[in-house]
Amino acid sequence: MKILKSLFISTLLRITLFSATTQGGTFEIYNSCPYTVWAAVVPGGGQTLNTGETWTLNVLNSTPGRIWARTNCTFNNSGKGSCQTGDCNGALQCTTYGAEPVTLVEYSLNQNNIDFLDISLVDGFNVPVELSRPSSGCTGVIRCTADINGECPDMLRAPGGCYNPCTLFKTDQYCCTSGGGCEPTDFSKFFKDRCPNAYSYPKDDKTSLFTCLRGSNYRVVFCP
Ligand SMILES: *[C@@H]1O[C@H](CO)[C@@H](O)[C@H](O)[C@H]1NC(C)=O
Ligand SMILES: *[C@@H]1O[C@H](CO)[C@@H](O)[C@H](O)[C@H]1NC(C)=O
Repeated sequence: MKILKSLFISTLLRITLFSATTQGGTFEIYNSCPYTVWAAVVPGGGQTLNTGETWTLNVLNSTPGRIWARTNCTFNNSGKGSCQTGDCNGALQCTTYGAEPVTLVEYSLNQNNIDFLDISLVDGFNVPVELSRPSSGCTGVIRCTADINGECPDMLRAPGGCYNPCTLFKTDQYCCTSGGGCEPTDFSKFFKDRCPNAYSYPKDDKTSLFTCLRGSNYRVVFCP
């Protein structure tokens, strides 16, 4: 996630009602998929979510984090194993980010009273996801629910998911690593056409980064 602080300075100056506290946010993670997912949050850990199950967790202020679903996992009694998508070094309790391809929910809460949120396809796609704030005061629901796995270009196909081209080709054109201008590509447009509110390439901030006033409770739904 690229946080364009300068865009929000005028907003920040207008917010005087809230003083900085250590209060974090809450994420309610719900599995609506017809299959089990192994939810992962870093920092946070992991949890098996059968269809219809919820995991509620508190997250820290100011620490950027990400949430994703892992699929087709097996773990032994010590919480060691592997997943077809989203695997985090074979651990049920993730402490490292998940292997691509994986649909990401990214957050950075209470950056001077603003929560920053996005859905990112920069690491590809595995499971459809929706991010919303159930209480009032913050606009909108962000979602990425297209059949990206089904429509994935042959070159990007993966077992259980669809790669972002940066993962496979690692070029500046797709990964935007040089710091210069970086434009959409045919591959990034494939993702953007299907999920207009999600990051399709790293410099896709304008239409993909969302903000809320801090102190929010958020809901993440897999397969909404
Ligand atoms: C679980 O798997 C890990 C890694 O393969 C192994 O080291 C550990 O002994 C296993 N634990 C159990 C209880 O089977
Ligand atoms: C799990 O793996 C099986 C066998 O490869 C596949 O048919 C199924 O679609 C996978 N499930 C998910 C949720 O990706």
